[in-house]
Amino acid sequence: MIGRFACSSDSKRMEVRAPNTDIEFEAYYELRWRVLRMPWGEDRGTEYDEHEEKATHVAAFDDSKNLVGVGRLQLVERNVGQVRYMAVEPGFRKQGVGQSILFQLEKKAREQGMKAIVLDAREHAVGFYIKNGYKVTGSSYLLFGEIPHSKMEKQIEGSA
Ligand SMILES: CC(C)(COP(=O)(O)OP(=O)(O)OC[C@H]1O[C@@H](n2cnc3c(N)ncnc32)[C@H](O)[C@@H]1OP(=O)(O)O)[C@@H](O)C(=O)NCCC(=O)NCCS
Repeated sequence: MIGRFACSSDSKRMEVRAPNTDIEFEAYYELRWRVLRMPWGEDRGTEYDEHEEKATHVAAFDDSKNLVGVGRLQLVERNVGQVRYMAVEPGFRKQGVGQSILFQLEKKAREQGMKAIVLDAREHAVGFYIKNGYKVTGSSYLLFGEIPHSKMEKQIEGSA
């Protein structure tokens, strides 16, 4: 998928697709760690889990082919997917990168026969998911003793 996103005063091209080389996967996990783990003192390696091999990975690349955003989809129960590890490079936020990744993950979910997506959203990201059609269904866990999460859900069957 080729999209466009605003970058300061101009508009640049963005590609949203699966990472497909060792170098791209290294950048993929490095960004995941740097945004979602490093600020809380977590070591490299804590950004992986046991579902990576079977999961669907999506990354956004800027017009210089730099990886600027990531997200993952995994099957958690029959017809239900879970989105995890959404992370956008700080200098590229609020330009549509996260939304493009989420849109691509939802497209992949539909292609895999999923009818709903669930996720646990960090408190500050709840508004992003609400913008994208997700509803809060309850409260969830406290990560690293300080980041509250909300359970969220979206029905994707038949949606665009
Ligand atoms: C959450 C995150 C992935 C969003 O990515 P992004 O590229 O900045 O989001 P987008 O630019 O695609 O935003 C899409 C829409 O959601 C809105 N939005 C984005 N972040 C928001 C937030 N935190 N709260 C409310 N609205 C938000 C945007 O303004 C935009 O709305 P618009 O279409 O009306 O302009 C990104 O901020 C991030 O990486 N945060 C740190 C890591 C993190 O918390 N990940 C989520 C873990 S659950």
